[in-house]
This record gives sequence, structure tokens and C-alpha cells, in this order.
Amino acid sequence: MALKTSLKLRLPYQVHSYAQTLQAFKFSTQENNDRSNYRKSIYKNVVGATFVGVASFALYRYLEDEKKVLAATEEITQSGNVKEGLPFYSLDEIRKHDSKEKKIWITYKQGVYDITEFIPKHPGGGEKIMMAAGGSVDPFWMIYGVHRNQDILNMLEQYRIGNLSEEESKISVQDMSDPYAFEPRRHPALQPRSLKPYNAEPPLKLLADNFITPTELFFVRNHLPVPEIDIATYEIEIEGVGLKPIKLNLEKLKKFKRHTVTAAVQCSGNRRSEMIEVKPVKGLSWGQAAIGNATWTGVRLRDVLLAAGLKEDPKGVEHIQFEGLDTDPSMNPYGASIPIEKALDPKGDVLLAFEMNGQPLTKDHGYPVRVVVPGVTGARNVKWLGKIIVSGKESDSHWQQNDYKGFSPSTDWDTVDFSSAPAIQELPVISAICDPIQNEKVKPVNGKIPIRGYAWSGGGRKIVRVDVTWDQGKTWSVATLEQEEAKHPHHWGWSLWKVEVPVPQNADKIEVWAKAVDSQYNSQPESFANIWNLRGVLSNAYHRVTVNIDKGKK
Ligand code: MTE
Repeated sequence: MALKTSLKLRLPYQVHSYAQTLQAFKFSTQENNDRSNYRKSIYKNVVGATFVGVASFALYRYLEDEKKVLAATEEITQSGNVKEGLPFYSLDEIRKHDSKEKKIWITYKQGVYDITEFIPKHPGGGEKIMMAAGGSVDPFWMIYGVHRNQDILNMLEQYRIGNLSEEESKISVQDMSDPYAFEPRRHPALQPRSLKPYNAEPPLKLLADNFITPTELFFVRNHLPVPEIDIATYEIEIEGVGLKPIKLNLEKLKKFKRHTVTAAVQCSGNRRSEMIEVKPVKGLSWGQAAIGNATWTGVRLRDVLLAAGLKEDPKGVEHIQFEGLDTDPSMNPYGASIPIEKALDPKGDVLLAFEMNGQPLTKDHGYPVRVVVPGVTGARNVKWLGKIIVSGKESDSHWQQNDYKGFSPSTDWDTVDFSSAPAIQELPVISAICDPIQNEKVKPVNGKIPIRGYAWSGGGRKIVRVDVTWDQGKTWSVATLEQEEAKHPHHWGWSLWKVEVPVPQNADKIEVWAKAVDSQYNSQPESFANIWNLRGVLSNAYHRVTVNIDKGKK
């Protein structure tokens, strides 16, 4: 079934931290573009801002009714400053308090607040205010000035439980010697898995809301600091076997025929956190949201290479290598490569992309140009593209040679020989349940609960079925799929799916499992135990989610 994708469903909050905004305004000339986008985003998201405003007003009314408003102006101006006698908390600690069970903490400047009690009274429902849970409320309040109202700040102080540790509070302060000092603004809903380099995924519950993942909620995987690129001097160098070296700036690149594809990008380490439960692995503890689905616009790599002099069946050429403009302290760039067959396949859709979801790429996603290799693991989709090398061999970068490879469960760090395994290219079939999330309490309607998620397979293999069971595999329901009509046999985009599962009477909880089947009848392995590998990649076993049944009054 062909479904129109929509970007209108973006969250109402496209907002940015105050400190980051100041930082950007002060130090970066290249951010002019971002600034204007930022202004546009404010207008675009005025609805969201209004919502935040209404919520604040409700908070104000609630507390005033309860006669909890403090009057003292000194208290007001002190809001968010360090308060003597209260404990200091680290950002890591604060981040843990993002649910009712673990208490809901937010920060404002250097203040730490426990707002758990306020959540149920929130007029817009708990979900929206939860966007700030475990993090800073400042970026949300940037949008709507009423939050900087003295009364509201005073009210907030009543929920004060501590201070943000001095060291951590410095993170938002400009440090010229820090290679991460010029990092872009990020959506506060993104859940960081590491700050430097920045790696983050959106809340899983939101992931299946949009067929096209809103750019600001698209997971970010950076190995190095985001490079500062001056578009006035930016050029992609193209060189290698059988080519006369050339350089293309963005203007010249855009002269090639434009091409748009819908493609999911997934990190090889997506769902690693589940594999870690078997045995520890080395790598970021990604949840199930290190994947997103976007439209990518650019020009075909094939067209550019042929124009640069490459033959259709070039002798001595096996791989196309890419280098990013992000470098490590020794000035080695991020690099990866793909086989020549994929690069030159007229239906392979490999792009030098300059737009994501109809807008210029954002800094985190590779501005001004990135490679998009549909159906292939995220690592080969090189961002901030600086160089293309036509070669007889693979990229010799760490990420091609010594990372992103799969091994036997019995291979450990003492026995691993990275040269013995091929670099991951096409990814295996995967699915995940996005809603409800693990241990969520859900009230059945007519004895059923709705389950939603995503499914995807590498190599352009279409998802043909998603099976869901609620009774440990005795009964399986086939989910309804939402997917884009592919224009040719390849199916680069993901599929969203939904299904209703029955809840046995008197059940306190059920465990729901999901597995997808692709067009070559590949399916997901049952458990992680037998696919465990030391880097925690290719983590695609059945997704199992425990749902607590809300038996409350109707
Ligand atoms: N390109 C460069 N230059 N530097 C990087 O660190 N990370 C890669 C890839 N391209 C990376 C890169 C990895 S591992 C992934 S999964 C994808 O970018 C993530 O793309 P995204 O951040 O746009 O989601």
C-alpha cells in the first residue's frame, strides 16, 4: 500500500539550548544558515510553543490555587542558581530520572528539580512535559518567554532537590580549546549515548509515529567532532585508478541530475543494549532507535564517477573509498568504502546527498554533502564528504578494517583477527516494537492492546511480513504494514507495522515478541545468545517487550 509520508507530524518542539544558541551566535560565522533555520523553526513550531505556554500557565494556576506561590523577588532572581545545603548531582545521574518509577527530574540552569508530582496534573498529558525528563528544561523555555516569568520560576523552586554539579554545568559553557566547542544545537528529546563524540537516539516510543523520521529526531552517530566547514571553499576531491583528479564544489555537484530516494539508515550497533544482557560487549549501548527513515536528495555517485572518467567495467577497480572531513587528533579522517558493483549499479541508488527530508543536510547529518548507500550499514554512509577514491582495495580506515565486522560468539578480544572477517555492508532483517515500550503499563481496550513498530532489511529486500506473538510463540498475529511503493525491485525504506494483541483475562503482564520476514524469506534469530559477538553488532534477534496490564477502573 502506498502511503504519503508526512513531515507535518514533527514534534512541536524544535528548540535549542540557550547556551548553544549563544555559542553559535558568538563564534560561528557558518551558522548564519542555521540561525535562519532556527528562526524559521521557531515560527514553524509556534503551535508547540503555544502548548508549552499553556502548560506553564496551567502549572502556574495549579500552584497558585494550592497557595504555593512564593512572593519574594530575591527568591525569583535566585532561581536556578546554586543553592547552599542541597546536594550536587551529575548529568548522568539526572538522566536516570526520566520515568515515574525512577522519579522525574529536570534541570533549570544549575537547579535540579523533582517534578514527579506535577506530571499527572499536566493539562496536556504527561507525555509532552516528559520530553524534558532527565534533562534540561531550558531549551523548551527558550521558545516561550512566559517561562521566564518570575512566578513560574518561583513555583519551580518549590520542586528543588539539588544542584547541577559545577563540573557538569560547564559542559554548556564555551571552551575554545575543546574540539567539541562548535557542535551544533540538538533536539532536547534526543537521548545521548555519549556526549563527546555526540551519539544519540530518539525516544523509542516516538519512532513509529512518522514514516519519515523528522530530521531533528533522527539518531546521530558521530565518531569524532563535527567538522567546521566553510561552504565558500568546500570541495569534494575525486581521484584514483584511471581518473584524472577533479574537484567539485556544491554548485558544480548540483549540476548533475537530481535524484531522491527514501532510505533507512541504521547503525550496525542498533539494539546492542539487548545483546549486552547476554554478555558485555565493547560499544555504545544503543537501544532500538539507532535507525531512521528519511528522504535523501542529491546526485548519483555513479553519474559523478562516470563523468570523472570511470568506465562502466573498470579494470583494477574494486572499491570506492570515501573520506569525511572529520579527523582524529592525528588528522586521520573518518573513512569507509563500498564495493564498485554497488557504487555503479544504476539501481543501487548510491547518492552524494545534500538534502535530507527536503532541507539542506544539518551539521550532524553531514552538511554539506554525505554519501547515502541505501541498504548498507550506516557506517558506509560517510558524512561531511571530503574525498572519493577509486581503488583496487577497501578503505584502510579503522572503521572498515577493525570495526563493524561480525564474529563467532566464541571469539573474544584475545582471539579476534579482524582481517579474517568481511566488513559489514548489507544489514540483516530486523524489527522492533516501539510502542508500548518495555514495562509500560497499558490499559486494554475491548480486551486488546495495540502494538506498533518498525521493520527493515538491508540490500533493498522488502519486508513481506511481521509476526507478533503474545503467548510465547503458540499463536502469531500478522501485522499490518505501512510501506512506500518501491519504484524498482529494491526497497530501501523501512516498514512501519501495527497489530492488536488480545490480553488473557486476569493477566498482570504479557510478553510480546516481534519478528520480521523479508522478501528472501530471511527472518530474525530467536535469541541473542547464539549471535552474540564481541562488538555487539548485527543485533537482530526477536524483540521481546513486557507489557504491564493496567486493570484500573474503566
Ligand atoms: N561519517 C563521518 N564522516 N563520520 C562518522 O562518524 N558515522 C557513520 C556514518 N557516517 C560517521 C559517518 C555511522 S557509524 C553511522 S551509523 C551513520 O553515519 C549515522 O548517520 P547519522 O548520524 O546521520 O544518523
